[in-house]
Amino acid sequence: MGCQNECPAGGCTGGATKQASESFKAADLIINPATTFKEKPDPSGLVFGTVFTDNMLTVEWSLTSGWEKPYIRPLENLSLHPASSSLHYAVEPRGETEENLVPMVWLNEYTLFEGMKAYRGVDGKIRLFRPTLNMDRMVRSAARATLPCFDKEELLECIRKLVEVEKEWVPHSTSASLYIRPTLIGTEPSLGVKKPTKALLYVILSPVGPYFASGSFNPISLWADPKYVRAWKGGTGDCKLGGNYGSSIYAQREAMELGCQQVLWLYGEDHQITEVGTMNLFLYWENEDGEEELATPPLDGIILPGVTRQSILELARKWGEFKVSERYITMSDLTAALEENRVKEMFGAGTACVVCPISKILYKGKNLHIPTMENGPQLATRFLNQLTDIQYGREDSEWTLLVS
Ligand SMILES: Cc1ncc(COP(=O)(O)O)c(C=O)c1O
Repeated sequence: MGCQNECPAGGCTGGATKQASESFKAADLIINPATTFKEKPDPSGLVFGTVFTDNMLTVEWSLTSGWEKPYIRPLENLSLHPASSSLHYAVEPRGETEENLVPMVWLNEYTLFEGMKAYRGVDGKIRLFRPTLNMDRMVRSAARATLPCFDKEELLECIRKLVEVEKEWVPHSTSASLYIRPTLIGTEPSLGVKKPTKALLYVILSPVGPYFASGSFNPISLWADPKYVRAWKGGTGDCKLGGNYGSSIYAQREAMELGCQQVLWLYGEDHQITEVGTMNLFLYWENEDGEEELATPPLDGIILPGVTRQSILELARKWGEFKVSERYITMSDLTAALEENRVKEMFGAGTACVVCPISKILYKGKNLHIPTMENGPQLATRFLNQLTDIQYGREDSEWTLLVS
């Protein structure tokens, strides 16, 4: 039987034997939960990703046996051989070839992850938001990282069960949530740069507070410099591989030293605008042809296909009130539009904050003022309200999956 997930050729279980299990099954889940419980924190004071719930999900894989049974068990440290592939080949230093200044990174990256949330709605029910899109992306990342494939529906059901076990950790608040971090790592105890023959899939949960502590939008400032590149054609930018993130921290530090909060990632000689920090980017403007347009860069291999991005595009297309485009935008397109007062709003979009307004871009030594806040921001606020209404159960939607 072939893989159920349409994995690209050669990207699946790495040639697991006939007897080896091609996916774990939620029906086999062994639930052996913690018997001592940590105190649940006040979500308003939480620092992202620092507090974890009492339990985790783990599933082990090996080339010879395939997937083992999934476990829900007390959160504990992992025990890894020091030669484990994920400890060596996930975050490699980047270099630059002399001819074309294209950054290089090892293509074998043995760590990948997902980021999604569980929300406690106004009706007390707990929901996940479009989790099948996260599962699709995780399977694509696994194939790209030469890590084993699995059945997306089975993992989603295991995650649903884990959240159910930990349901008291989902904050009783409509401005906080429980962050879900599925992770897949290569654990082969060998230094060869090749497909790992052992892997571990695990899921940990962390309550997170409001992204905008003041309860209202805080716009961010960006540093745009072609000096560092997040992703490139033929690379791994469209997958959620650990290496993409570890190597971006250096640029992020430089942005902060220059007084900016995030990096605006540029690409190519024409300085195409691609993403902002770990968010997709949207520009709401009057375009070169005088049309009212919501634009975001196309999924051409260097953009992470965000769940929030897709949701914003689908909502805007359903409203049908302005042009919605997946198109290239360069820094010179943006600066010309700013000079001609054609920019209405610019914002990042992602699971962490839903939408995040942008007020300033430092580019070639000059501060470009983006008039997002002066314009409401009307559109960003509308997306924020619409999406959080769905997430917190104020509006019924097929985009949610009920946990309990
Ligand atoms: C590079 C990058 N772009 C965009 C996003 C937004 O994706 P999503 O809306 O699925 O959170 C993320 C978040 O994970 C990201 O890491």
